[in-house]
This record gives sequence, structure tokens and C-alpha cells, in this order.
Amino acid sequence: MQIIDGKETARKIKEEIGAEVESIVTTGLRRPHLAAVLVGHDGGSETYVAYKIKDCGEVGFRSSLIRFEDDVAQDTLFEKIDELNRDPELDGFIVQLPLPDHINEQTVIESIDPSKDVDGFHPVNVGRTVIGLPSFVSATPYGIVELIKRYRIETEGKHCVIVGRSNIVGRPLSILMSQKSVNATVTVAHSRTRDLEELCATADILVAALGSPGFVKAHMVKEGAVVIDVGTTRVPSSETKSGFRLMGDVLFDEVAPKCSFITPVPGGVGPMTRVALLSNTLKAARKNIRY
Ligand code: GUN
Repeated sequence: MQIIDGKETARKIKEEIGAEVESIVTTGLRRPHLAAVLVGHDGGSETYVAYKIKDCGEVGFRSSLIRFEDDVAQDTLFEKIDELNRDPELDGFIVQLPLPDHINEQTVIESIDPSKDVDGFHPVNVGRTVIGLPSFVSATPYGIVELIKRYRIETEGKHCVIVGRSNIVGRPLSILMSQKSVNATVTVAHSRTRDLEELCATADILVAALGSPGFVKAHMVKEGAVVIDVGTTRVPSSETKSGFRLMGDVLFDEVAPKCSFITPVPGGVGPMTRVALLSNTLKAARKNIRY
């Protein structure tokens, strides 16, 4: 059994991105530039955005943080998005979600120029991914496929069962895993799937992305399977200073001995999702995608 080290893989990718940034700058081009729009003061969003800005600094990107109070008028936000769409000095930007109730998130996502949508949330990027065109792919599916590739995990003809059909994880991952470069046979399972436990036990690659701590138990995993755990639920803990710990969707201790590869929580998929934004921003800066 091999533990997939997402933290170390993310560190390596950041190093690669950093080296590429330096070569871009050396040739006289400007630094890749990412902006983050943060509305309000939600604790989780503040933390995520702070990490994104820090990550940019670590790879040599320029970054900008644009803040609005949570009573910002929808039109004010759209005016800013318009300005960012047209800014030639900016390669990509994200609008941190969730947004306050009076702002329509889907309309915000669709107002971002797809060529600057480094979150990969715009329907144009989702659609391009579906038909195999160059696109920005959302962070978690990118991170999972990158881990599978870098660990040289055999995917050709394998049965990949994805539990969870969210727009940002399960569904886009199912598209990537069935593409010709991966060639897995994919089943997307969800809360209404019949005989879910038996189905999971048929998986060569099992991806748990349902947000239910400890859902996947040993009897649901085939001997030698690859298990990817996307769950990151905060559960109370007496063993940490914060009083919480992160718990995955997989009961790691009992499942790990049956696996060929498994991602831990924390330190598996999580660190890779942060790197995805950097990778997409570099792609945007290189103008690798023609719309
Ligand atoms: N909120 C939680 N995760 C994300 C993300 O990946 N992008 C944005 N924009 N908001 C988020």
C-alpha cells in the first residue's frame, strides 16, 4: 500500500510553476497576475483567499485582492467584474464563493470572461472540458487527475466509481476520467444509487466525494483498489488546539491496508486543489487557451 502524498506533490508543482515564472520574467514578459474578489468577512472565505494570495507570492505571481462589504450592490460587483475582464494587465481572477444571498452566484460566474475564469466554473469552460477542448478545469478534479498521473497509476480500462455528483468535483471528474488520455470506465454514484456499497466494492479506483465523514468502510473496497478521498469535514476533536480536525469520507485506518494507493486527509487531495489555481493562472498568462 502506498500513501499518495498530496502535500509533497503540490510542493513540487509549485516549484515547477515558480521556475516557469522566472523564465517568463527573464524573457522580458510581465509576471502572471491573479486577482481575488472577496465579498464580506466570512471566516472560511477570508482564510481561503489569504492562502490564495500567499500561494501566488510563493511562485512569483503578482496578486491583487479586491474587497467589498457584504451589502455591496450587485451592479457594483458586476462593474468591477467588467473592469477585471477588460484589464490587459490581469491574466485571471476568481470571485470567492459563497456570496451574500442578494447576489446571484450563477449570474456572477457567467459574467466572468471564460478566458480569465481560472476557477473553471463558467459554463463555457465546463462545456469545453466535456468535449475535450483546452479549458480551465476546476481545482479538485484537476488535483485528482494530476495525482493519478504523477503516481503513474494505471487507469486504462479500469472501473472508476465516483461517489458524489457535484458540479465542481464529481461531475467534472467523471468527464476527465473517461477522456482518451485516461481511458477509465466511469460510474457516477449518488444518494439515490441502489446497492451503493456493492457498487463501491467493484471499483478499481474509488473516489469518495460526498462529504460524509467515514462513509467508505473496508467492506466497500476491493483488495488492491486505489482510493481517493475528497472529504474534508471539520469534526470536533479533543486532540487538537483548535478543537477540530479534518475528517475524510474514508475510514482510513481500516481501508488503507486493502488499497494499492490511498490519499490521506489531510495532506492528500487538499493541497492539490490550491495548486490548481496557480496552474490555471499560469495557463491563462501563457494564453494557452484560445476562445
Ligand atoms: N469557495 C470554496 N471553494 C472555492 C473555489 O474553489 N473558488 C471560489 N471562487 N470560491 C470557493
